[in-house]
Amino acid sequence: MGYTLDDVTRIVLEAKERAHQETGNEPEPEFTSTVEWPIECTVGPGLEGAIACETKIGYVNGKKGWLIYRGYDIFDLCAYSTFEETSFLLLHGRLPSETELDLFCRTLRRRMFIPKTQRSLLSFAVEERNPMDALRLGTNLMRQKQIRPGALNAGITGETVASDEDSIPMETKPTGWKKPVYEFLERLFRPVQDVEPSADAMPDDVESFYNLIAGVAAVSATIGRARQGRMPLEPLPDLGFAGNYLYMLTGRRPSPLEERVMDICLILHADHGMNASTFASMVVASTLSDIYLAIGAGISALSGPLHGGANVEVVNMLEEIGSPEAVPKWYKMAVAEKRKVMGFGHRVYKAYDPRARILAPLAEMLADESPELVSIYATARALETEVVSALGEEKKIFPNVDFYSGIVYRSMGIPADMYTTIFAVARVSGWCARVAEYLEHNRIFRPRAIYTGTFDEQYKPADER
Ligand code: ACO
Repeated sequence: MGYTLDDVTRIVLEAKERAHQETGNEPEPEFTSTVEWPIECTVGPGLEGAIACETKIGYVNGKKGWLIYRGYDIFDLCAYSTFEETSFLLLHGRLPSETELDLFCRTLRRRMFIPKTQRSLLSFAVEERNPMDALRLGTNLMRQKQIRPGALNAGITGETVASDEDSIPMETKPTGWKKPVYEFLERLFRPVQDVEPSADAMPDDVESFYNLIAGVAAVSATIGRARQGRMPLEPLPDLGFAGNYLYMLTGRRPSPLEERVMDICLILHADHGMNASTFASMVVASTLSDIYLAIGAGISALSGPLHGGANVEVVNMLEEIGSPEAVPKWYKMAVAEKRKVMGFGHRVYKAYDPRARILAPLAEMLADESPELVSIYATARALETEVVSALGEEKKIFPNVDFYSGIVYRSMGIPADMYTTIFAVARVSGWCARVAEYLEHNRIFRPRAIYTGTFDEQYKPADER
């Protein structure tokens, strides 16, 4: 009880120590350096093992359970960095100077103010839509202007203008009809102290990436608020990205501990190799489509229960199980029904996911702080023991990032159906970084399928079939 920010750092560093003791020190030698194209690799169904490009952004060592962003160990970033700093690192390839970081934080805070997008979004009755569908919609609504046809390298971003560039003041007081009619009052959040580079000084693509990182968070928060029947909130000038996101989502100023834990969650989810949603964004971007559409594709891919949608399914599953005592019986039933246990297994990790190594003890800490989490956390731990003893050795199945994250979010009072949008809020920085890197040497993605159909069917008119 009474945990401090130092306790959070200690928990992360203890997880690092355990990981390093268990997983050794040397990286896998294969595929960690520049290659001569074309390369040979063995490809399985679902593109398992396929190598599509080179990257300097991140490294996942599935056998040892390592996750590295731009050379920095995920444990160190969680212990010492912030989401803003990590996003800058992913996007720009290096840690920012103090001045750069300060400017970047203020830029993101300012761009979390997106009243035009929020107003457009709320006209779609988002509270009735799946939150990830609403997030994709809101992300696409952030972008307004048509790209210039045929503008090759400029196409992805060149003519992209966020709808909020000419923002009108935030609606703070609803009047008349429930959704569409608002009275616009004077803007509460004034970015007057924010000295941003002028639009001319910032390349268009970077401009769009910043808009997206800040804007997707604001859209997610807007959806969360709408689902509670509430109006969107503006970012507060004295909160960082994680704190403002929590504030705008829950309507409650987070405690420093909550802010720090959310910051860590965002760092942990910011990037992860060529996962399905990153690949989806890259595929769309490789056609020189628009970055807002590419990120929309990432959101769509992330929403599925085999990917980011698993964090919602985990909490539903733990509730279905009900208590730690019910785990053995439930697991027997799940095996009999050939059900996959949500929050376990990974295409790449054949060791304990380092993200789960951090989230599990954080969930434990938060359960220790809030009595209503005790049972769900104990159920999760009992399920982990059950699944790992059945499948850990044989199939290398361990908890993944989605297994404990929901318990952490629940401690902050966030409804379960919003969890996957939190994942997306963090992953936007990885999506943007990977898209930008790939576009430097763009080649449209175009794998093949092996045709196993017939060849000599004879066409018959409909009335003869
Ligand atoms: N529960 C039980 N068995 C599992 C699980 C699981 N969660 N995951 C994999 N297995 C088993 C499979 O049944 C299969 O067994 P078999 O060889 O006897 O047929 C074997 O492990 C390999 O599984 P695949 O589904 O082929 O593995 P793949 O790499 O295609 O899928 C995935 C990875 C989708 C993550 C899978 O493990 C899964 O469905 N997990 C549950 C959903 C989940 O938690 N998703 C989030 C992943 S993390 C992320 O995306 C952010």
